[in-house]
Amino acid sequence: MEGTKISDLQKSFGIIGESDDIKEIIETIAQVAKADITVLIIGESGTGKELVADAIYKSSLRRHRPFIKVNCGAIPAGIIESELFGHVKGSFTGAIEDRKGYFETADGGTIFLDEIGEMPLETQVKLLRILELGEFIPVGGSKAKRVDVRIIAATNKDLYEEVEKGNFRRDLFYRIKTVTIAIPPLRKHPEDIPLLVEKFALDFANRNNIPFKGFSPSAMKLLQQYPWPGNVRELKNFVESMIVLHKGEVITSRDVTKRLFAERKALNDNLPIRVGKPPDQAERELILHQLFLLREEIRDLKSYLFSGGREQEIKSLPPLEAKKEVFVEDEILTEEEPAKEEEHTINPAKIGKVSLEDVERELIEGTLRKFNFQKRKTANVLKISERTLYRKIKEYGLEDTEEEK
Ligand SMILES: Nc1ncnc2c1ncn2[C@@H]1O[C@H](COP(=O)(O)OP(=O)(O)OP(=O)(O)O)[C@@H](O)[C@H]1O
Ligand SMILES: [Mg+2]
Repeated sequence: MEGTKISDLQKSFGIIGESDDIKEIIETIAQVAKADITVLIIGESGTGKELVADAIYKSSLRRHRPFIKVNCGAIPAGIIESELFGHVKGSFTGAIEDRKGYFETADGGTIFLDEIGEMPLETQVKLLRILELGEFIPVGGSKAKRVDVRIIAATNKDLYEEVEKGNFRRDLFYRIKTVTIAIPPLRKHPEDIPLLVEKFALDFANRNNIPFKGFSPSAMKLLQQYPWPGNVRELKNFVESMIVLHKGEVITSRDVTKRLFAERKALNDNLPIRVGKPPDQAERELILHQLFLLREEIRDLKSYLFSGGREQEIKSLPPLEAKKEVFVEDEILTEEEPAKEEEHTINPAKIGKVSLEDVERELIEGTLRKFNFQKRKTANVLKISERTLYRKIKEYGLEDTEEEK
């Protein structure tokens, strides 16, 4: 497809970005929109899955027909079938009359099943039937009804993993994943950040009648280096808050750093205690983790201070730890037998005698070993970015000698 057409499409969908990833997404939208094929959109939270679903709908032949959005994660499991497929009078207490479900309402149109990974297994069976036969039976009913609905689904879960865990039906997964649009996290296409910032800033400033003078080049660089765990949504909120806080001023890298640090601190102050471990062990790990964060912060503050607060690029800004990542996954809490005392690399009695560097090194090494050198898991548990983890591994020579897992 020629460039102009892509940019026209982008404009009408409001999808910003010139990176190869975004261009490819737009091309895929253009290719699949007009066919009635099911599309699965995957990506972390805030990456634009709903925006892409809207774009598919808007450029489909069904754009003048109903478009129903259903958040499968927000509907209680007990009523989701009745919501989706309707029910017949008397099928359960409170079913005082026949009720149409979303599929029937969307007949001839499109349904967006957001957070499909949250759909209960029994409901998945019914969905598969609609996909394969174009029919369903309302709750309490005996006769199948036919519908013609195009399905777009989205999830931020890893459906492969959900299938392995038995939470998602394999047959349904294979049925819906034929056309998958994978939206990368923002940190994977930082080249799009200036365009996104400009768009969000101008829209917000115009809408609210606030003068906006722009971000300085180094502030923009900083925004491109930041890992944005909340992706485009977080960037958008950040830009809007900066405009309100710095009305009519050029926003500098100092302003950006200050705000990012303020948020990071607020989140770290809320560090929850890990559960599922003996309290002394939990406390010890918490102290070690705090020491680790402290060291990171000192390093970043140093680099900021050495810049003299001047307009200067600040390298390797630490990631903002999203609250959800602060919690330790159940999987980790429940796996294996409890760690033996001697497996602890640092004895709490030694605190005060060892350097932060020692603590950091041992903590990283121990965590890497515990998770078979799986970098993502290790980084998640340590609550640092994978980027930081790779740097530390190199710094301390902690590379795995075996083959990468
Ligand atoms: N490429 C983009 N261009 C412009 N705006 C974008 C882009 N990607 C995301 N956004 C904006 O970011 C915000 C979040 O996007 P959206 O709601 O589509 O994310 P999501 O992936 O559905 O998130 P969640 O998983 O949390 O539901 C929206 O305001 C959306 O308009
Ligand atoms: Mg969404």
